[in-house]
Amino acid sequence: MSTAAPAPARSRLRIPEAPRVPWEATPFPGTPVCPTLLTRFEIDYLHHLARNCTARGRIIDLGCFFGGSTEALAVGLRDNARFPMGWPAGPVLAYDSFVLCSWGERAMNCGLRAGECFMDRVRASLAPLGGLTDLRKGWIPGALASGDAERIYPEQEPIELLMIDCAKDWPVMSTILRVFGPHLEPGAVVVQQDFKHFSTPWIPVFHAMLTDCFSLLHSVPASASVSFRYEGGLTPERLADLPRTEDFAADDIDAVWDAAEGIFGPSLGEFGLVTLRLQRAHHFAYAGHWPRAAEALNRAEPGVAALAAETASKIAWERENALRNLAGRTRAEAAPGRPLSAAEQALIARAGA
Ligand SMILES: C[S@@+](CC[C@H](N)C(=O)[O-])C[C@H]1O[C@@H](n2cnc3c(N)ncnc32)[C@H](O)[C@@H]1O
Repeated sequence: MSTAAPAPARSRLRIPEAPRVPWEATPFPGTPVCPTLLTRFEIDYLHHLARNCTARGRIIDLGCFFGGSTEALAVGLRDNARFPMGWPAGPVLAYDSFVLCSWGERAMNCGLRAGECFMDRVRASLAPLGGLTDLRKGWIPGALASGDAERIYPEQEPIELLMIDCAKDWPVMSTILRVFGPHLEPGAVVVQQDFKHFSTPWIPVFHAMLTDCFSLLHSVPASASVSFRYEGGLTPERLADLPRTEDFAADDIDAVWDAAEGIFGPSLGEFGLVTLRLQRAHHFAYAGHWPRAAEALNRAEPGVAALAAETASKIAWERENALRNLAGRTRAEAAPGRPLSAAEQALIARAGA
């Protein structure tokens, strides 16, 4: 006599699968017109965020490049159910220097040379979206002079959604928080596009030191983006006392990254955790602690090796870049007469292999 349980009757109901992420159900419609450096996941995510804004504050895109992030936000705004009733919060404000850099020249291969202005191209690409975007040309500076905050953001109005993709160095990150931070509405969403990028350690450091002001909202899969909910508390005192690169002695760097890994690691997945470890190494390098940078990178290696197959190629790319970047800088910065540590020698040898 067979003891096998009878097969369950097959249901005729078509039960939809729950979306794995809230924005999967309403993706960006079609294909974006603007060239972008973002992944499809990030485009869908930005579209979802703007689609769910409530008009209680501005939508701002810092570092729009050729307009991909701006387009995702503007289409999300157009698709927002509240939009047809009128949108008092105005268009998406998109900031950029609009000056093509050398990697941009290579990446875009669009007939423009490094140093040339690409604002007209972005304006033309976004034209079908009518008045939903407002482009702002200029550099966000690393240091603020009197009146700069009002010049950069003349509206001085509440902000509901802030996409940051131009915090490419430590002082600019501080400026962004000083100019736009005071206008964030409690509950506003801040997207940090470079949070999971190996070479931007200031971003996790700021967030590790501002956990009372920002709580992690989403880690966008297959991308470097992580978003935060603004809880309030960016007081003038707090903004005057933001962490500076020169505040960190070598042991402080380890301490802040131990904290960052503890706070964010569990939400970021393996790829995110590895990028935090690579950023720790870069933080040491930017601070001039070359042997510690090499040690931190070497310590990150076993985690890289153990990663799951689907993230391995992306990680390998990050690791290769991090390795080459750090080895090159280590070589260049080695002071005459200072013998290289064993860790530094091993790093340089592996990068050369
Ligand atoms: C990685 S790209 C942004 C990609 C874009 N969000 C997209 O969807 O493709 C970074 C952009 O930030 C701009 N940028 C970098 N630093 C800046 C600064 N300090 N002020 C203004 N723009 C800046 C660059 O010109 C570049 O276009």
